Amino acid sequence: MPRSLSGRNFLKLLDFTTEEIQYLLELSKDFKRLKRTGTPHKYLSGKNIVLLFEKTSTRTRCSFEVAGNDLGMGVTYLDPASSQMGNKESLEDTAKVLGRMFDGIEYRGFDQNIVEDLGRYAGVPVWNGLTTEFHPTQMLADVLTIEENFGRYKGLKMVFMGDARNNVANSLMVVSAKLGINFVACGPKDNMPDEKLVATCREIAKENGCTITLTDDVKEGTKNADVIYTDIWVSMGEAAELWEKRIKLLSPYQVNDEVMANANPEAIFLHCLPSFHDLETSIGREIHEKFGLKEMEVTDKVFRSPQSKVFDEAENRMHTIKAVMYATLK
Ligand code: CP
Ligand code: NVA
Repeated sequence: MPRSLSGRNFLKLLDFTTEEIQYLLELSKDFKRLKRTGTPHKYLSGKNIVLLFEKTSTRTRCSFEVAGNDLGMGVTYLDPASSQMGNKESLEDTAKVLGRMFDGIEYRGFDQNIVEDLGRYAGVPVWNGLTTEFHPTQMLADVLTIEENFGRYKGLKMVFMGDARNNVANSLMVVSAKLGINFVACGPKDNMPDEKLVATCREIAKENGCTITLTDDVKEGTKNADVIYTDIWVSMGEAAELWEKRIKLLSPYQVNDEVMANANPEAIFLHCLPSFHDLETSIGREIHEKFGLKEMEVTDKVFRSPQSKVFDEAENRMHTIKAVMYATLK
């Protein structure tokens, strides 16, 4: 088990070995214990980090802010409107400037290339807080939640339902391959993860004794699943016009009672959040007016059921992000 990832970027899980990911999970458990017992852990006191958000966020931003404060660091938040990045100043120059002032940089935004470039030029650790292609910090929280419920993750069957080509689905496929989890992408045939990424993950999965399956068959895909996972049908940065098409395409892949009944009786439900499971959001109400739907990727009943672990999962974002920052900055 590696003792340190000091100085490393955290841009995508493909860059990390199985042992390194396991190390981050162990560290996350330690930090969760420290937080729960009220034990101070200002191990990075005197350091400063900056959070760059080109897309909105609740969980990721708050996790970085609280984790940064708990570790004793100064935290600066920049949204696109309050920095020169991309408009008046190139990414390369921005990265070099921020790297002179801060000890670590978080980026949430668009192309994976952007965060890779930041990582190349900054000279300090850069952490990916979500790009169009990947959402690697989310995965650590997801696997930690799985382990808390089953006491293990290796050998379990995890099914992602719906928009199987999005950042969360891609990252789940990678983390599953790395950790020996049998992964199923269950969605329409022409809405599957990138073929090259699937091929890469299948190679990794072979080494770790697990499988990567793509299927459009809900019954077959979710049979005896241990974890049923879904995400919203239109991601941040995608056009609002896509809702109609996605609703038609992805409605058969909604997580509902029938899906949960087909899974292992002990199965848990996970969702990275935010979720459209009722009419308590403005977008949810707009969709209801236009298309008549009251719930989308998951029914309100499943979302609120005892099998749903989505709020434990959300809490775990903070503990796992703390582990990533500590491991790369200490
Ligand atoms: N799951 C997640 O990344 O949530 P936010 O968009 O609120 O950060
Ligand atoms: N796929 C979603 C994830 C949100 C955490 C998005 O990119 O909007």
